[in-house]
Amino acid sequence: MNQKFQNKSFQITRRSFLAKCTVAVAATGLPLWVIRQDAALAAEAATNAPGMPSPNDRPGIALIGCGGQGTGDAMNASGYGDILALCDVNQQHLNNAVRRFSMDGKTPDKYTDFRKVMERDDIHIIVQATPDHWHTLINIAAATAKKDVYGEKPLTLTIDEGKHVVKAVRENKIVFQTGTQQRSDRRFRLACELVRNGRIGKLQEVDVWVPGGLRAGPFQTGQVPPPTLNFDYWLGQAPQVEYMHERCDNTFRWWWDYAGGPVTDWGAHHNDIARWGIGQDGPISVEATVITPPIPGGYTTPSEYSATLMWANDVKQVVRTTLDDSPFGQILKPDGQRNGIKFIGSDAWIWVNRDGISASKDEILTDPLPDNAIRLEVSRNHMGNFMDCVRSRKDPVAKVEDGHRSAVVGHLIIVALRSGKKFTWDPAKEIFTGEGAAEGNTYLAREMRKPYNYDFAG
Ligand SMILES: NC(=O)c1ccc[n+]([C@@H]2O[C@H](COP(=O)([O-])OP(=O)(O)OC[C@H]3O[C@@H](n4cnc5c(N)ncnc54)[C@H](O)[C@@H]3O)[C@@H](O)[C@H]2O)c1
Repeated sequence: MNQKFQNKSFQITRRSFLAKCTVAVAATGLPLWVIRQDAALAAEAATNAPGMPSPNDRPGIALIGCGGQGTGDAMNASGYGDILALCDVNQQHLNNAVRRFSMDGKTPDKYTDFRKVMERDDIHIIVQATPDHWHTLINIAAATAKKDVYGEKPLTLTIDEGKHVVKAVRENKIVFQTGTQQRSDRRFRLACELVRNGRIGKLQEVDVWVPGGLRAGPFQTGQVPPPTLNFDYWLGQAPQVEYMHERCDNTFRWWWDYAGGPVTDWGAHHNDIARWGIGQDGPISVEATVITPPIPGGYTTPSEYSATLMWANDVKQVVRTTLDDSPFGQILKPDGQRNGIKFIGSDAWIWVNRDGISASKDEILTDPLPDNAIRLEVSRNHMGNFMDCVRSRKDPVAKVEDGHRSAVVGHLIIVALRSGKKFTWDPAKEIFTGEGAAEGNTYLAREMRKPYNYDFAG
């Protein structure tokens, strides 16, 4: 245990503690009892922490997928270990990342094939932020090579992939954190804890609002891939198609071949919180409607849609795209009509998003939960929680099963959108049942382009 860190926690006087709490209340909009409880939990966590690694004991880290999110994730990870390797199929992104992560006279090694990274004994952790269609094969390769993984959301491209990733993580006993970082934000945890403890009465409905997707096209044909990009390896398991830069720039998310559009982009975050609050593995039915269809020859995922999922105990979940017109829709208004989640109970409601938390009555938030209340796992820092677990070998706050089950919610919506049908789902067996099941089950997996398959690198 790190003595310096531990002592510091207990040097806080009562007066300075209260002053800090008051400042925190103002800054976060959270009630005082939550801030106090959090401070106490932080002190306890510091006491029980597995200990900070010495400078000679920092894990070796490799980043696979050096785009916008990967670079940010690796910056966070670099506070806990050393970035020894960088991998990307796009030389330009790779070189940018090398410049970014070269420090103190040390330059990370460059790779264009992730399989080579897995061969290194001095790499203990993989941070992976490739486009969604590459997540599974790289996660399985990392698990097989016994590397711990911080893997971006959504965990998978299909429901079948999730089953394979969970198996690989468990069989190889690696630590896996899904990049659904809202689980490490105390506002989302508070909302879910209050719902789980019946603070709004019986939960009846969860309204999820996600930003709409991009709608554009038709795109120019006959484009030539830049010499810095290995387009065939970028495509991986996805169908062979003509190159368009609109596929590969971080707009990959608006194509069914590589991702789930606005269903699994922000949806991976908000459906995860909805499921955390509902407290069940998965829904039992799904139906969905395309509101704004794509333009032929352009992005293939619909920019606007709505979906309704039923969960056991008559809980209804409604997922809708916001009317926000910005491409990534980060307009956060706490009015229940914008990007965020509203839990509606028989007695009251709670609204939460990255900007704050509010409720139909003040006391829903301000009355402390009793000591015997149901508590959810506490994490204050998503990467920090992962690194703690790498040392303790415990499961992080967004363990692989949660990454999988929350991604399934989005995948079910995608099946309903693409087929135009309503389905019944068995969350335990993870198959469609009843009318139309045979058609629904054809969407569980996708055929991978040769030579890609689950054993490609694992
Ligand atoms: N947690 C969050 O809040 C959050 C935010 C943004 C993105 N994401 C997720 O992060 C992932 C990446 O998104 P982005 O916006 O950074 O995309 P991006 O296009 O900027 O980056 C993806 C990178 O992966 C590289 N790549 C593709 N195939 C590869 C392969 N086989 N091997 C190595 N590198 C490969 C690409 O060349 C690119 O540099 C997505 O899954 C996305 O959903 C998460």
